[in-house]
Amino acid sequence: MKDEDIERPQAMKIRQGIQDAMTQSLPEKRFSESNIDLVEVDIELNNLGWNFNNFKILNLTDIHLGQWINPEYLDELIDYVNTLNVDIVTLTGDYFSYNFADYEKCLEKSLKKLNANEGKFGVLGNHDHWMDAPKVREIFKNAGIIDLSNDVYTLKKDDDSLNICGVDSCTVCADDLDKVISKMPENIPSILLAHEPDFALESSQTNKFDLQISGHSHGGQFIIPKFETTPFRGPNSTKYPVGLYKIGNMVQYTSKGLGTNSFRIRINCKPEITIITLKTNKKRKIEIE
Ligand SMILES: [Fe+2]
Repeated sequence: MKDEDIERPQAMKIRQGIQDAMTQSLPEKRFSESNIDLVEVDIELNNLGWNFNNFKILNLTDIHLGQWINPEYLDELIDYVNTLNVDIVTLTGDYFSYNFADYEKCLEKSLKKLNANEGKFGVLGNHDHWMDAPKVREIFKNAGIIDLSNDVYTLKKDDDSLNICGVDSCTVCADDLDKVISKMPENIPSILLAHEPDFALESSQTNKFDLQISGHSHGGQFIIPKFETTPFRGPNSTKYPVGLYKIGNMVQYTSKGLGTNSFRIRINCKPEITIITLKTNKKRKIEIE
């Protein structure tokens, strides 16, 4: 699944040059609620404890800071997210495009003020590896984000638990699903953060995850409604490029993301903030005294 067609660092220098040119042309773009698609999805999870019924997960992905999204825009977007009062925030990678140094401090400052009642969790995308993965992890640490690269965090509410798992980017072959599974407490509803949506082909086969949340595709940046698809699909986002899918026993959700690493254009494909509300299918036991 590795993206082998890009030679580095020469290709990276060319891409950084394109980003610099695009960044120069960034208009005074301010965040506006009307230019964002706030997608709200209810997803039922098998055996989810009642304490997690209506648990809200807000996902942000593909910020690609400095390329379409400038630091001021991101800061205002985070202020907006903080008004939405969710339980956890998840981040599914590609915080940078081809320029790290000019934006690392801005990203850290914005992510640091991101509020979530029960935690902030993140994984890295292919671009974060191409830039500087250890430094992105340092930003996570400084911003209070739990790094779920091939790791698991179990949330608890009274007798109920929920696994929030994460796998590292498969584009750069950093994924280690066996490691994730070895760390997972058994028989607990489980959500996987995976930057690349097509990783669902692999994760769904394990029958260990109820839901995978991804980005990476940018929804293709063009969506043709009648076909409910997108004509431009990059590596690892050809199968599940946008929206909801059922793969075996697992639900896949692919966000359209916020920014872009290519053309600064989106047609019928607004930048997206996703709120997933978990629902239980468990029958409620009522004790009769
Ligand atoms: Fe990506």
